[in-house]
Amino acid sequence: MQKSLMSKLIGGVAGLAMMSGVAVAQDKVDVVHWWTSGGEAAALNVLKGNLEKEGVTWNDVPIAGGAGAQAMTALRAMVTAGNVPTAVQMLGFDITDWAEQGVVADLNEIGAEEKWDDVVPAALQKFAKYEDKWIAAPVNVHSVNWIWVNKAAMDKIGVTEAPTTMDELFAMLDKAKEAGLIPLAQGGQPWQEATMFDSVVIATNGLDFYKKAFIDLDESAINSPEMTKAFENLVKLASYADPAMSGREWNLATAMVVKGDALLQVMGDWAKGEFNAAEKKPGTDFMCFRFPGTQGNVVFNSDMFVLFEVGEERRPAQAKLASAVLDPAFQSTFNVVKGSVPARTDVPDTDFDECGKKGMADLKEANEKGTLVGSLAQGYGQPTAIKNAYYDVVTNVFHGQMTAADAPAALAEAINAAK
Ligand code: GAL
Repeated sequence: MQKSLMSKLIGGVAGLAMMSGVAVAQDKVDVVHWWTSGGEAAALNVLKGNLEKEGVTWNDVPIAGGAGAQAMTALRAMVTAGNVPTAVQMLGFDITDWAEQGVVADLNEIGAEEKWDDVVPAALQKFAKYEDKWIAAPVNVHSVNWIWVNKAAMDKIGVTEAPTTMDELFAMLDKAKEAGLIPLAQGGQPWQEATMFDSVVIATNGLDFYKKAFIDLDESAINSPEMTKAFENLVKLASYADPAMSGREWNLATAMVVKGDALLQVMGDWAKGEFNAAEKKPGTDFMCFRFPGTQGNVVFNSDMFVLFEVGEERRPAQAKLASAVLDPAFQSTFNVVKGSVPARTDVPDTDFDECGKKGMADLKEANEKGTLVGSLAQGYGQPTAIKNAYYDVVTNVFHGQMTAADAPAALAEAINAAK
């Protein structure tokens, strides 16, 4: 029987069954995400494979675009058209915004049954729960305050230790320039420049300043000489990027470090997934260091799957997806591949390499010491409108359209306008 006739029949049967009040379970999930790079796709395949073992068919809805802006735009169009996906990759305040619309599924039963409250860090629960109900399944904890350094390039310039200050970072970049390397592998896109600036602000002025400026939105911190100094450091970093950086995708910048054409990239630890995909080993082929001046702090973002309110026939498969995401074994296997660390505190670091083990230890320490903070650039500092105001000012400074001196006042104005 032709496929099209068969699908019409299945649709008809499902329709009849629903009218008769008997929902025919559709063991299928439609999942919107932006994991389109090699490392990201490899990680996602772990989840797809686990669900397919449970008889759930995975309908992939990839929307390319780093950090998900394009995916969020497409999602709004889908929901407006009544084409509600089963699950969507989402970050921070976007999750809260959708929960406020009253269109996300209530995962509280699964969350209670599987005791998610006991194992998911409070910083994640703030976004994964809404009005004290679970509404999202956290997949991981990424952090943005890393540098990824090609080991051979590091040896070539005679650097043996991790830089611990901005000045030591600049000295490394100068040596790479002298050695004929591209010092800084950079993707010239607002989200990437802002992701780097999160770390620059902490390295320049400390974590308390970052919290005051970006979490409390204290204008005396935003529009300050200290913020000018941070922007001056950003301008200096921009001078180490190659002329072809404008518009470059983040994973292509990572590839420059993988290949040794560039000394280092400042990027979240999803970059680690690209080194994994290229079968590169930490300590041998590359080094993972905390962004100099941010050691002891973890500037995080967490990928979560938000499940949308769907018809009864789609809920069993949806519940299987939520449960599969928080499964401890999946949490280890997925995050080893992805470059992130588990969203559960009860997953051992046995299968993680030295970078993963460091990421897990850093998260535990930051959680205990109160030095865990949301990444503004990655949607865990402020709602999207304010995040985008931040992107606009940072990218203008990075690309020379605005001076460091003018940036703090412009940032304060843009944030106030976005409130
Ligand atoms: C982040 C996301 C990561 C990775 C990165 C690059 O927002 O949390 O999983 O996808 O974007 O696109």
